[in-house]
Amino acid sequence: MNDDEADRRARTPAVRGDGGTKGADDVALDPWGSTSVGDYRKLFEEFGIESFEDVLPRVPTPHYLMRRGVIFGHRDYRAVAEAMANDEPFAALSGFMPTGDPHIGHKLVFDELIWHQERGGDAYGLIADLEAHAARGLSWEEIDEHAESYLLSLLALGFDPEEGTLYRQSTNEAVQELAFELGTKANFSELGAIYDFDGETEVSYMQSVVTQMADILYPQLEEPKPTVIPVGPDQDPHMRLARDLAGRMRYFGVTEAYASFELDDAERGLVARAYDALTEDAPEDSDGDDSDVRCSDAAAWLNSERPPSDALEGAIETLEAGGKEPLRPRVRFLDRNATPAAFEALIEAIDGEKRVYEGHVDSFSLDREAAEELAREIETEHGGYGFRPPSSVYHRFMTGLTGGKMSSSVPASHISLLDDPADGHDKVMSATTGGRETAEKQRELGGEADECPVYELYAYLLSGDDDEFAAEVYEECVGGERLCGGCKEQAAELMAEFLEEHQEKREEAREVLAGLDVELESDRR
Ligand code: TRP
Ligand code: SF4
Repeated sequence: MNDDEADRRARTPAVRGDGGTKGADDVALDPWGSTSVGDYRKLFEEFGIESFEDVLPRVPTPHYLMRRGVIFGHRDYRAVAEAMANDEPFAALSGFMPTGDPHIGHKLVFDELIWHQERGGDAYGLIADLEAHAARGLSWEEIDEHAESYLLSLLALGFDPEEGTLYRQSTNEAVQELAFELGTKANFSELGAIYDFDGETEVSYMQSVVTQMADILYPQLEEPKPTVIPVGPDQDPHMRLARDLAGRMRYFGVTEAYASFELDDAERGLVARAYDALTEDAPEDSDGDDSDVRCSDAAAWLNSERPPSDALEGAIETLEAGGKEPLRPRVRFLDRNATPAAFEALIEAIDGEKRVYEGHVDSFSLDREAAEELAREIETEHGGYGFRPPSSVYHRFMTGLTGGKMSSSVPASHISLLDDPADGHDKVMSATTGGRETAEKQRELGGEADECPVYELYAYLLSGDDDEFAAEVYEECVGGERLCGGCKEQAAELMAEFLEEHQEKREEAREVLAGLDVELESDRR
C-alpha cells in the first residue's frame, strides 16, 4: 500500500463487515430465491470468492465503491485491472431483470459499468427480459415498460451508448445462438445441483440459465478479452458455471504433467513434491535436464509419505504403472474440442522439444503462460472462441431503510430512482438509524454509524466521490457531534436533489434512447 492509499483508507471508513445484518450467519447464494448474506467473510471461505482488498492496490484510480469496501469481493479481477492499467482491451457487462422500477441498489451496478467504460472498457448493459418472463412470469407488456425505465436510468447516469452496447436478451440473436452452443456443454444434473432444479422445473428456467451464460461471454465473441461482470453475490453460482463453461468450450486445455499419463490436481502436487525432492541435489546431465528420476523412484519416495490419502494411493499406483518411464516436467495441451486442422497447427507451432500423443501434445520448453497464449492463438485462428474465464466483482447489498433487507416489494425499504423527490425525502426521514435512545446518550457514546442505513446512504450514494465528506459524517456520528435528526435532514435533502436531477436527466435520455437500436416494444406475447 502506498502512502496516498494508506492515507485515503484512514480517512474513509469502510462499510462494516457484515453489511448490517448482524445476527444472521447463514449464507445462501440463490439467484432466484431470497439471498441473505449474514457474514460476507463466509463467502470467501465457502465459495472461494476473493477479497477485493487484495486487488485494490492494482486498480488504477479505484471507484469510491471500491475504496469504501462496498465492492468487497471478486473472482479473477486481477486480469481486468491489469488490462486497464496497460491499456489493453477489456470489457464490463451486467444484466438487469426488468421486474420493477430501478432503485438505488441498481444504481451501484450502473455506476460500475459506467466507471469501467470511462476507463476504456467495452461496456454492455442488457435487459434480462427472457429471464424475467421465464423465472418471474412477467407479461411482455410489463417487461417493456420496466425495460425502458432501466435503460433511461443507465443513460441518465452517464452510460455512453455510442461507445457501449445495450441490448435485450429477447432480440439478440447472437446471444441466443451462443446460448444454444453452451447448452451442449452442460447437462440437467449439473444445473439441477447448482440451482436446485428438479423434475417440475420449467424448461425455460434452464434456457434462461444458458442465456445468461451467453450474456456473460458475449463481449468475447469477436475476440477473447478480460471481462468483468459486476453483480451481487447472489449471482455467484452463475459466475462459477460461466467460468467452467468458458473452459469447456475451448479447443485445448493446458495443464502441467510429469510423464505421459494424466494426474489430477492433488496427485500432481504429490508427484511434484517427489520430483523436487529426488532432483534436489542431483547434478544436471549433459542435455541440461535432470531426468534420471524414474516413475518407480517417485512411487518409492511417496510410499513413505504420510498421511495416506486417496490422492496418495492414486499417485503411487499410477507411478508404479509408469515403471521405468523418466519423470520430466512439461506442459501438456489436451485436445478438447479442436478440429483436426487446429490440432495439427498447434503441433506445428510448438517450438522446441515436444512429444505428440493420441489426444495430447507435450512441450518440454514452453512455460505454462506461453502455452496458454499459444493455445488461444491457434484456437482463434482456427474458428474457435478462445474464451477467457470471465471475472466478477461483488457489491454488498444495501440495508433496507426500515432495517432488514432492502426489497423491491417493500416500497418503504428502498428508494426507487423514479420516486418523487419529496417521497424520497420522506423515506429518508422515516428511516431507522444507528442512533441512541436520547440525544444525551448520543453525545456521550456517539452514534453507531456501522449499524445505520442512513450512513450507508451517505457511503454508497450521497457522498459521491467525496471521501472527505463521507469520513466527516462518520467521524461526527461516532464522535457524538452529529445527531440523527439533523443528519437525516441533510441526507434527505441530498437524496431529493439527487432524485430531481436524475429524473431530469432521464427525460433528456428519452430522445437518445429512441435513436438507439434497442426495441422498446416486444413482438412477443
Ligand atoms: N440474473 C440476473 C438478475 O437476476 C440478470 C442477468 C441476466 C445478468 N444476464 C446477466 C447479470 C448477465 C449479469 C450478467 O438480476
Ligand atoms: Fe446514522 Fe446519522 Fe444518526 Fe449517525 S447521526 S446514527 S449516521 S442517522
